[in-house]
Amino acid sequence: MSYLANFRVWRGDSSGGALEPYEVEVNEGEVVLDIVHRLQATQAPDLAVRWNCKAGKCGSCSAEVNGRPRLLCMTRMSTLPPDEPVTITPMRTFPVLRDLVTDVSFNYTKAREVPSFIPPAGLKPGEYRMQQADVNRSQEFRKCIECFLCQNTCHVVRDHEENKPSFSGPRFLMRVAELDMHPLDAAEDAGLDRKRTAQEEHGLGMCNITKCCTEVCPEHIKITDNALIPLKERAVDRKYDPLVWLGAKISRR
Ligand code: SF4
Ligand code: F3S
Ligand code: FES
Repeated sequence: MSYLANFRVWRGDSSGGALEPYEVEVNEGEVVLDIVHRLQATQAPDLAVRWNCKAGKCGSCSAEVNGRPRLLCMTRMSTLPPDEPVTITPMRTFPVLRDLVTDVSFNYTKAREVPSFIPPAGLKPGEYRMQQADVNRSQEFRKCIECFLCQNTCHVVRDHEENKPSFSGPRFLMRVAELDMHPLDAAEDAGLDRKRTAQEEHGLGMCNITKCCTEVCPEHIKITDNALIPLKERAVDRKYDPLVWLGAKISRR
């Protein structure tokens, strides 16, 4: 069964833009990205959209549908009211390049600021041994497809451009948490305190655990409960542990 639906699609660039109305055919089983492609093929050949896999795995097609951060390729038309206009807009937190395409380089900058895994001394790759529970814990975070919908949603930066320099966002705080809970990461031996950098360099304290990031994650990663809250707990334990405090004071002398 097919029907005609009304869409309002944001058209413009960094200098400004507006919602443009379109009437487009919708067929059974289609997702919002199918509609955008039909729009390109029939009425708006210059409409810019970023996509790649159409299978919810590349993380490219992030945008907002009726104001909600979504993957265009995983949002079924059947989940939207057929008699109301569907609004498609670019992610709000990142600068628009053109139409539905945003400049997500903020995220690459933040990614580069997290030092990678530091291998343990005296062990070669292949000699690493870990408990299965530790493997499973970080496996959840590795499902991330870097769609940046969580980064787009978090209120700390969504309407607060001024917070961007001091806040890495849920995706990269999760990366710090993953490395901090890795039993073989030798950061501390190398003089890197990941809990301290989470607080002082990545803005962990600015997260007030609203869980909006978790709600929009297409991989259903429990970002807040399994990464951010445990990292906050460990960072606080460290800060208020009298032995750690004394050790830090002595080592600073
Ligand atoms: Fe996307 Fe989830 Fe990864 Fe955030 S954690 S970038 S929402 S897949
Ligand atoms: Fe933002 Fe997620 Fe924390 S939405 S405030 S990072 S719980
Ligand atoms: Fe790859 Fe949507 S096109 S996630």
